[in-house]
Amino acid sequence: MEVIRAAADFRAACEAARAGGRSLGFVPTMGSFHDGHLSLVRRARGEREVVAVSVFVNPLQFGPHEDFEAYPRDLDRDLGLARAEGVDLVFAPSVEEMYPGGTPAVTVDPGPLAERLEGAIRPGHFRGVSTVVAKLFHAVGPSAAYFGEKDAQQLAIVRRMVRDLSFPIELVGCPIVRERDGVAMSSRNAYLSPEERVAARCLSRGLSRAQALLAAGERSAQPLVAAVRTEVDEEPLAAIDYAVMVDDETFEEVQDVTSPARALVAARIGKPRLIDNVLLTP
Ligand code: PAJ
Repeated sequence: MEVIRAAADFRAACEAARAGGRSLGFVPTMGSFHDGHLSLVRRARGEREVVAVSVFVNPLQFGPHEDFEAYPRDLDRDLGLARAEGVDLVFAPSVEEMYPGGTPAVTVDPGPLAERLEGAIRPGHFRGVSTVVAKLFHAVGPSAAYFGEKDAQQLAIVRRMVRDLSFPIELVGCPIVRERDGVAMSSRNAYLSPEERVAARCLSRGLSRAQALLAAGERSAQPLVAAVRTEVDEEPLAAIDYAVMVDDETFEEVQDVTSPARALVAARIGKPRLIDNVLLTP
């Protein structure tokens, strides 16, 4: 496994790896690996001849009062895990290497979808995400890129960017990996106190209730969303940001589940903010 710090070297290594038309799968991450990240790596490993992973905590996607400094970092551990999964190339640049001119003046406009939900609460977040993902895509030139459904809005925005800006890349969405108690794996779970960690179950519990209601025949978004909201509202340590139902393709809010829809929930558990979602198929 090759570990690369310089952007030019990474670009050259990816180009060499793709020689002769070999397929390259790319997994962009901010590191601090858990099984969610590794599930993307395994999927890429199973499907492509070469696997490249980036580990970069991207300052551009953090708000001024967010956790950029505190975000968990453990590159040595990540490299060990990546090696064990058979990753070929790891790109771990510094901020200066990624943004040599400082904060970029030209960025990718992620469009109207980026203004809603996570985007409404975290202004500029998705501009930062799409800009760094576009830069990484240019460096890697992957045949496929792997993203988790955990960050469903991010996946939808990157999908749209790939389509609207004609990146010749197949995007592969991968299912959410959960802890045994149902809580979606997230690097930010490390911020939770033991009591908060138990309280965090209310998100997945609410989504499971919505799923059960759907299975029982409910098709109207209102009671499905209300089930999610009630579980979170009943948890004293949780403060809900939103619970909504969107079309899985367009991410527009829907009133009824007639085609694949996604129930999305975001809440603060103490200070940390968590998101989760579930696909609802009629
Ligand atoms: P990060 O939060 O490190 O996540 C990297 C990838 O892992 C994302 O595609 C995310 O959706 C996926 N992932 C995280 N938790 C998961 C889980 N429990 N199950 C399945 N997949 C999971 O998302 C980012 O980094 C950044 O925004 C990035 C795309 C790298 C741009 O900076």
